[in-house]
Amino acid sequence: MSEFNPATNEWYHPSKEITRGARVKDYEKLYAEADADIEAYWAKQAKSLDWFKPWKQVLDRSNAPFYKWFVGGKINIAYNALDRHIKTWRKNKVALIWEGEPGDKVVLSYWRLWKEVNKFANVLKGMGVKKGDRVTVYMGRVPELIITMLAIAKIGAIHSVVYGGFSEQALADRIEDAQSRVLVTCDGAWLRGSIVKLKDVVDEAVRRAPIVETVIVVKRTAHDVRMEQGRDYWYHDLMALPIASPTCESEVMDAEDPLFILYTSGTTGKPKGILHTHGGYAVYTSTTLANVFDIKDDDRYWCAADPGWITGHSYIVYAPLILGATSVIYEGAPNHPYPDRWWRIIEDYGVTILYTAPTAIRGLMRFGDMWPSRRDLSSLRLLGSVGEPINPEAWRWYHRVIGKENCPIMDTWWQTETGGFMISPVPSVSLKPGSATRPLPGIKIDIVDEHGESVPPGHDGVLVIQQPWPGMLRTIYGDPERFKKQYWSAFEKQGWYLTGDTARRDEDGYVWIIGRNDDVIKVSGYRLGTAEVESGLVSHPSVAESAVIGIPDEVKGNIIYAYCILKAGIQKSDELKEALKDHIRHEIGPIAVPAKIDFVDVLPKTRSGKIMRRVLRARAQGLPEGDTSTLEE
Ligand code: WT7
Repeated sequence: MSEFNPATNEWYHPSKEITRGARVKDYEKLYAEADADIEAYWAKQAKSLDWFKPWKQVLDRSNAPFYKWFVGGKINIAYNALDRHIKTWRKNKVALIWEGEPGDKVVLSYWRLWKEVNKFANVLKGMGVKKGDRVTVYMGRVPELIITMLAIAKIGAIHSVVYGGFSEQALADRIEDAQSRVLVTCDGAWLRGSIVKLKDVVDEAVRRAPIVETVIVVKRTAHDVRMEQGRDYWYHDLMALPIASPTCESEVMDAEDPLFILYTSGTTGKPKGILHTHGGYAVYTSTTLANVFDIKDDDRYWCAADPGWITGHSYIVYAPLILGATSVIYEGAPNHPYPDRWWRIIEDYGVTILYTAPTAIRGLMRFGDMWPSRRDLSSLRLLGSVGEPINPEAWRWYHRVIGKENCPIMDTWWQTETGGFMISPVPSVSLKPGSATRPLPGIKIDIVDEHGESVPPGHDGVLVIQQPWPGMLRTIYGDPERFKKQYWSAFEKQGWYLTGDTARRDEDGYVWIIGRNDDVIKVSGYRLGTAEVESGLVSHPSVAESAVIGIPDEVKGNIIYAYCILKAGIQKSDELKEALKDHIRHEIGPIAVPAKIDFVDVLPKTRSGKIMRRVLRARAQGLPEGDTSTLEE
């Protein structure tokens, strides 16, 4: 839950066995070493990748905040994820074990995955996709999603993956912003035994964003879909053509060339296209995954996120493959057909590392201990958490019932913008439930007041990052001014990156993330902007004005409450509330649907016209409203 509830004196120490096997055995020593010379530290990490040409300069600060990493270096992340393994014994190693929700299975070795990627890369080339072109990807959690992302990267194009839970308008906006001419999708996706009709959403989104010329459709659910002649092609048909040859050279990319755009919510209604690059991102994600999850060749690693979010980009697709790991991927819902689906997957495949979100843990915890207790979870070695603060109760349950008190929990704090883990334990450090512990080696942070002064232990402040890091976002796609303003203007003098989070440090230097301090709400770990939901509501013909807030919720972390002022002459009714929810479901997606909508005649505003969300939040929870002296009459 998002309420702050620290357990600052509750320690969990790693076993000797865990520490002995850990890649980072002495956190303090490595942190100090990296801190003394971050460029040397990152250069050392970068050497474990395959470069077509070495870099000339590790970090170029001359045009800050537009930092450049590994300047002059030539690399391709897909080459590092696949081609280099094909030359070793790893070509026969399992890369992906995939289980579909209905129970079907696909196992791909590195060799097989490499071939599939090469084939689809050639298909894309055949469709006219070139280096630098943007390709939008809107799919369920199927192996073809990973194949598609890697194929795009291999030919030097830029992927923009839109999470399959988004709907028409959200998809159309993202297509438009990226100016994608090619879109890859599925006919449908399985969710709790029913079909989510992705292709229907695509048809409507493309009608609204007509820049798309080609749609490639993976057949997953095999229900009837409309295929538009000359625009829509079946993936399997294209993969059977002679152009789908199984060899494809990786495009030689500059380290700073764009790899992908991933849209995330900010403080305005327009989503931000976060841009990441081939070189720094490859170095950063692979180093952090190796250090935090201690991946070994015999591990079976399961990151239960969706590849459509940054967690999936970094820690399902790229980093595990760069490290040559074996990953488990599951398509559907955790409680389908029964609440032990996840625990059965761990038992069936011998999963050793499970990485998921607090909202999923809390959701599964509610079904009771009997479901995990009936399954053999003894293969587990490490657990992970991401997306929002984990409340100590959920942490203890995860530790005791799932990890059998043998598995340290890596609570990883990071963001779409950071590319990879920033504040996180490594397996050899002692833990406190609910704290992401300390920054990783090479990362310098502080918690400060508005003047940039460090706040003392136990006090809240804003979390800032004080040194650039290789996985950092390079810009907001098409909007460098917004990039500067959003992240680098609050502490311009100091050159610090503003995270948007409030945090606190305890006497031991452990960091406790409290939550967002901007107009971003985390619902089930998904990031939503209040302005996005508000503009979705006012796009309905009955709504004149709206205000949206996040209210703490036991399972989802936060839920959305919406207040709407209706246009003159519109009747308030429960049917209209349902119609508005449906409208949001279609415009943005199910994750953005308000749990509650209230019709009001006025909204609390400051005299300058800014909505006082703080007052709405207090009222909704029956709490004192605090200082309302700036409230307009
Ligand atoms: C925001 C970023 C990074 C992958 C998923 C989220 C919150 C993330 C934690 C954590 C407390 C966390 C922050 C952050 N957050 N991880 N371990 N403890 N809060 O990426 O959607 O870009 O959201 O998620 O508020 O700013 P994202």
